[in-house]
Amino acid sequence: MKSKGRFPRGRVAFFVTSNIHKFNEARQVLAKYKVAAAMLKIETTEIQDDNIEKIAKATATEAAKKCSLPVIVEDAGLFIEALNGFPGPYSSYVYRTIGTKGILKLMKNTKKRNAHFQSAVAFCSPEEPPRCFHGRTEGKISLEARGNLGFGFDPVFEPSASHGKTFAEMIMIEKNKHSHRAEALRKFVRWYTSTF
Ligand code: IMP
Repeated sequence: MKSKGRFPRGRVAFFVTSNIHKFNEARQVLAKYKVAAAMLKIETTEIQDDNIEKIAKATATEAAKKCSLPVIVEDAGLFIEALNGFPGPYSSYVYRTIGTKGILKLMKNTKKRNAHFQSAVAFCSPEEPPRCFHGRTEGKISLEARGNLGFGFDPVFEPSASHGKTFAEMIMIEKNKHSHRAEALRKFVRWYTSTF
């Protein structure tokens, strides 16, 4: 079978998430480095903090203890300049409550549309303190929602390097060329494969 032996024995990263989109994006990035990804759904306390690194590290520490395995956890946020960085670390709550429509409404008549996504990937093993890897994508909030791929705020975010396409107009391989999450995961996996 073609896929047999594709991943060296033991090269696996346990990704704690309940978001299948995040997991699939991560799977594709890690596979390039011959690291297999396993999705772990573990109940963790959702801490509130202004800092996504702290959130990712706290969740990874709790999850590693609960399952007695080395794990990765990712926390991300959309930071809109004209809204002083809102929703930032509160992106999940804002997405659940006002969604992309609400963001477009808040940005109505706003010319300055710069925004960025930030991602923090925390790795933690039961024996060690967590460490964190970061990624960032610059872009802007589109004037209207476009595209139906991806998840979350993808339909209203145009990365600067994408010539006007929103994340939701990109297939995953293209989103992974530009995305905050892919950048943070690449940093993680380079460290992981050189350490273990
Ligand atoms: P989380 O706390 O890392 O799950 O992310 C917070 C929220 O930000 C999510 O609920 C999504 O709505 C949004 N988000 C995070 N990453 C992305 C992305 O890559 N594209 C679009 N929205 C995202």
